[in-house]
Amino acid sequence: MLQKKVVALQKRGETRALWLGLGMMACSAMMYLFIGIVLVPLHRGSVWADEGECNVVTANIKEKVHCSFIEGSEDKNIFHYPCLEIYVNLTHLGQLVMLYHTEITVDRNPKCSYIPPDMENYKKVQQHVEMIRDNFRKHQRFLCHYDPSRKEKSVLFKRLYPPEGLLIAFAWPTVLLIGGILIVILVKLSQYLALVSAKQRRTLI
Ligand SMILES: *[C@@H]1O[C@H](CO)[C@@H](O)[C@H](O)[C@H]1NC(C)=O
Repeated sequence: MLQKKVVALQKRGETRALWLGLGMMACSAMMYLFIGIVLVPLHRGSVWADEGECNVVTANIKEKVHCSFIEGSEDKNIFHYPCLEIYVNLTHLGQLVMLYHTEITVDRNPKCSYIPPDMENYKKVQQHVEMIRDNFRKHQRFLCHYDPSRKEKSVLFKRLYPPEGLLIAFAWPTVLLIGGILIVILVKLSQYLALVSAKQRRTLI
């Protein structure tokens, strides 16, 4: 009677462990999918692979340009934030190029060097952007990221998607996958061993 109960409990535990292992494997598969679809293209698009010294040449807030009478271009130059434009000298090449905050800035608005975070009102946004501008006027020398092939002329202040980041992103689902596989193997192994020992007991009796 007691033995039957123990066996039933053991079976339930094994089933749960098996589901846990399979769930972990499924989870890691979804994470791989997400990395493949979302992160890999971002990292591959990040061509600013080398680091070099940049020197600020100009840091200005562009006046708003309104070209409403040119059809179709109505809102293209009207931003909901002051448009900071920073040009730097990539010193070892002696090239004057536009500086962008990150890859996201290039993607979302290549006309401005910096996109401020959403703030309550325009005045605060303006103060924030002016502070950034003044900072760049004060600290003119810094390391920036550039495309070694020079196909992409601009430089980045901060690189969000370096290849090392992808490696870290791949580490998590890999750990999960290995854990899941180990659990499944252990459950199967213990089931197999139980079967073998039961057979042995039967032959002994
Ligand atoms: C950039 O800096 C280099 C070295 O300091 C200088 O020779 C060059 O004239 C500068 N280029 C521009 C466009 O300012």
